[in-house]
Amino acid sequence: MTEPDTQENRVVVVTGAASGIGAGIARHAHARGMRLVLADIDADALERLAVDLGGTAITRVTDVADAGSVDALADLAFDSFRRVDLLFNNAGIMRAGFLWQLRESDWDAALGVNVTGVVNGIRAFVPRMIEQGGTGRVVNTSSVGGFAPGPMMSPYSASKFAVVAITECLQMELSMVGAPVSASVLAPGPVVTSVFDNPFGGVSHPAVDQMVAQMRALLTTDGLDADTFAEMVFAGIDRGDFWLAPQGEHLDSMVRQHTATILERRQPVIRPSFR
Ligand SMILES: NC(=O)c1ccc[n+]([C@@H]2O[C@H](COP(=O)([O-])OP(=O)(O)OC[C@H]3O[C@@H](n4cnc5c(N)ncnc54)[C@H](O)[C@@H]3O)[C@@H](O)[C@H]2O)c1
Repeated sequence: MTEPDTQENRVVVVTGAASGIGAGIARHAHARGMRLVLADIDADALERLAVDLGGTAITRVTDVADAGSVDALADLAFDSFRRVDLLFNNAGIMRAGFLWQLRESDWDAALGVNVTGVVNGIRAFVPRMIEQGGTGRVVNTSSVGGFAPGPMMSPYSASKFAVVAITECLQMELSMVGAPVSASVLAPGPVVTSVFDNPFGGVSHPAVDQMVAQMRALLTTDGLDADTFAEMVFAGIDRGDFWLAPQGEHLDSMVRQHTATILERRQPVIRPSFR
């Protein structure tokens, strides 16, 4: 017998679930009674979240940059629940520094997690999400910084631009084959997470420190907490939005400013930005 499609029996997979935005999404989905498969590279933090959620979530230590690790996550989710309704390709990392100083390892890390991680999620989950029947959605986390580049954040900016392009391609291709699965770009503005509390690699330089200090200041003045943010994300998913940009004012100003420099053939300007 086919189970009725209710909020309660939906299966949600979140990568990078142990902290920040991913943890907020996990808590919100849990509060809605959804069934959870949570993945993160940080085993201890993942375990703490599982305990906070009352031990009901399935967890799997996963490195999204590793295709085999993400395949194993998908096998676990489909073996456990026979379906996946919502996939959040959320894991992401920052690498910062001047382009001419960043190391190959910084690029490998940022592109590996932020871009290949998303592609690995699509390859591992989408074929079975299409086959299972019923609607589904893949939410790929970019950033408002995926619409206008920021200096000293080139690996991050490039990766988040790529996530927007990949997700638009995914939606077009799903439409082409008439799949019941949809895609969404998630573009957070400032959300208070632990991301700037931890060293994030990249290059040490006073200008980088200044940039990080500006980001922290913006988080203090404009940052949403992860639970409020998750509530807004799910409201957009309920509406079936492709563009999930709960902090619309941040996204729109980025897009306007960036588009204007192109249309007016002007040199790129340093924006008072967020990631
Ligand atoms: N916080 C913001 O203001 C903001 C703004 C724009 C975009 N984003 C994006 O939102 C997403 C979540 O970021 P956050 O702010 O919650 O940061 P965060 O650092 O709090 O959380 C990121 C999580 O990803 C996990 N992770 C890192 N590498 C991984 C890997 N290889 N495999 C699996 N998990 C891995 C980390 O362990 C961590 O739990 C990221 O994609 C980030 O780029 C955040």
